[in-house]
Amino acid sequence: MNDVVLTGDRPTGPLHLGHYFGSLANRVMLQDKYPMYVLIADYQVITDRDLPGEIQRHTTGLLLDYLAVGIDPAKATVFRHSAIPELNQLLLPFLSLVSVAELRRNPTVKDEIAHSSQAVVSGLMFTYPVHQAADILFCKGTLVPVGKDQLPHVEVTRTVARRFNERYGPVFPLPEALMGEQPVLKGLDGGKMSKSRGNAIALSATEDETAALIRKARTDSERLITFDEERRPEVANLLTLAGLCLGRSPRELADEIGDGGAAQLKRVATEAVNEFLRPIRRRRAEYTEADARQILAEGNVKARERAVRTLDEVQAAMGF
Ligand code: TRP
Repeated sequence: MNDVVLTGDRPTGPLHLGHYFGSLANRVMLQDKYPMYVLIADYQVITDRDLPGEIQRHTTGLLLDYLAVGIDPAKATVFRHSAIPELNQLLLPFLSLVSVAELRRNPTVKDEIAHSSQAVVSGLMFTYPVHQAADILFCKGTLVPVGKDQLPHVEVTRTVARRFNERYGPVFPLPEALMGEQPVLKGLDGGKMSKSRGNAIALSATEDETAALIRKARTDSERLITFDEERRPEVANLLTLAGLCLGRSPRELADEIGDGGAAQLKRVATEAVNEFLRPIRRRRAEYTEADARQILAEGNVKARERAVRTLDEVQAAMGF
C-alpha cells in the first residue's frame, strides 16, 4: 500500500523542546520516507478558546518553527484548515456516520471538558474529533503520528472511514496511529512541559532566555549528581534534557558531573541546549515572515487540490 502521513498541531503558541523530541524529530525523518501533509489546525483552536487576534501570529510562528527544525516544504505539504473549504465540507457526511452517544463517549473530549476553563462547552468540543477525521481522510492519510491522547480521534477516523465505505462504497483507507515514544521530557519544574506553565524551552528561545530558564529550574541540594527518576525527578529531567540534546545517556552525564552539584548540572544542560538549538535558530533566521506566508500559500494550494479530488469522489459515491 502507498502510505501517506498526516500530522498536525493547533497554532496556539511556540513549539518547545518537548514537541521536538516528542514529535518533530520523527516528522523530519518521515518526510523522507512518505508523502507527508502537515496541518496547521487553525479551525480546531476555536473548540475551546477565542483568540482571533492571535491566530495569524501563531500560524506564522508555527510554520517558522517547522521550517527551523527542518521540515522541508519541497517534501512535506504544510497547510491550514481555513484555506481548504473542501476538507471542511467532509465534516457533514462524516457527522452523519457517528452517533451522539459515540461523540459523548470520547475519553479525550471528556478529559478536555473536565479541565476546560470555559464556562460553556461548545458543540465543536464534541464534533472536532470528526473534523479531525476529515483532516486525516481528505488526503487518504494512512499513518498518523500522534501522542496517546489522540488515539481516540484516530479510532473515530477509522470508524468514519469504515462506515463510509460500507454505506457508499470503498473510498477511504483505515488509517493507523504511529505512536511515538512516550513523553520523554518534563518541564523545568518537574510538571508536564507546557508553554502555559512557563516551564518550557521554546525552539525560538534565545541563548539568554534558555540560560535564564535553566537557571530557574528546580533541583535539589544533594551535591552528588545521580540519575534517579524516582527519588530525584527534577535532576533526572535536566539530565534527560541535556542527554537528548547531546545524544548521550543521562547516566553517563551524571557520572561526569559527579559532585559538581546543581550548578555544574545546569551549566552542562544550558550548554547542551544552546548547542542543540544553534542550527535550529540559524535556519529560522533564514526565513522572513513573508517567506513563511508564501510557503503556506503554496502548501494550501497543493492540499486543496488533494481535497477537491477527495470531495469529488465522496460526492460521486454518495450520489450527489
Ligand atoms: N488535535 C491535535 C492536537 O491538539 C491537532 C490535530 C488536528 C491533529 N487535526 C489532526 C493531529 C489530525 C493529527 C491528525 O495536537
